Amino acid sequence: MRVGILGLGSYIPEKIVTNYDFEKFLDTSDEWIRTRTGIIERRFADETQATSDLATIAAKRALEDANLRPEDIDLIIVGTNSPDTLYPATACLVQDKIGASGKCGAFDLQAGCTGWVYAAVTGLQFIKTGAYKHVLVIGAEVITRLMDPTDKGTYVLFGDGAGAAVLGEVEEGGIIDFELYADGSISEHLVYPAGGSRKPFSEEVLKERGYYTKMNGNEVFKFSVREISRISKKLLDKTNTRLEDIDWFIPHQANVRIIQAGAEKLGIPMEKVVVTIDKFGNSSAATVPVSLDIIYKEGKLKKGDLVLMVSFGAGMTSGAMLMRW
Ligand code: ACO
Repeated sequence: MRVGILGLGSYIPEKIVTNYDFEKFLDTSDEWIRTRTGIIERRFADETQATSDLATIAAKRALEDANLRPEDIDLIIVGTNSPDTLYPATACLVQDKIGASGKCGAFDLQAGCTGWVYAAVTGLQFIKTGAYKHVLVIGAEVITRLMDPTDKGTYVLFGDGAGAAVLGEVEEGGIIDFELYADGSISEHLVYPAGGSRKPFSEEVLKERGYYTKMNGNEVFKFSVREISRISKKLLDKTNTRLEDIDWFIPHQANVRIIQAGAEKLGIPMEKVVVTIDKFGNSSAATVPVSLDIIYKEGKLKKGDLVLMVSFGAGMTSGAMLMRW
């Protein structure tokens, strides 16, 4: 059975935050951010929006694109690191907001920025086994709320957004194969320290600003460049795919220097690489489905195109998926 994407949708909030906006309260500059990260601007959710709100808009657009109704969905998986609340799962809130309450299963999946790739691979299994027909897989984040506005090393990197895909049986093309990976021994490089069972919120957490992300940027950078090429090569070897046959390479959008170095190590020319970080920053689990939706809506993605998607993030996790459109 071939399983592929029946419909795609995304939503990026309207509020644009430029590098110049950060110059007003951080010891940074447009020049530094542009040259060190490739980011020119990013989008922030407005105060009334949480992750489920962004995810819902993307999900409705994906359903419309697939020409399906909410009740046609058998399962909703939301890959996120910034759920509305620790529980209930954001996927349950999305289920309600799209009008599918009580009609299907719904859960969140937390795999750092690799969340959407993990969610898509998980959804794929439910369909391949014949258990379900349609699975809605979403990558959604209001990740900027977990970043410290006084930390120039993290705050300037992130943006908010959501991307959604409806997976189901297709006649041609579809998901060819995947690779998932994690190395928990280096998880300390990217952590949201407080609010879990290890360190519940307290006066101490407030003092330490433990309610904001702590990142060792250099280590994340090295892991990411290594993983882009390692996991991609593994997947290409496994599927007997030649690098030159890839039409579109969609890497997680964390830093344009990571993308360029990863692409160079892999040996894929930048003309085939989708870059959206300049406009949207790093929206964590949302960057891959949003980027895929952008080339789809722009009409660049053609039937029969071979697409390689690769992501990496907290955990530290990485994942790749090869698909024929
Ligand atoms: N503006 C100005 N200076 C800055 C800024 C800033 N926004 N941020 C850091 N600096 C300074 C540092 O303080 C340091 O100064 P010093 O030399 O005086 O101590 C200097 O820049 C160099 O710091 P480095 O960390 O070496 O800078 P680097 O070139 O590595 O860039 C960055 C830092 C952008 C964070 C980079 O390491 C990176 O992108 N890492 C990966 C981040 C990432 O991908 N995170 C998320 C992935 S997973 C996920 O998405 C959840």
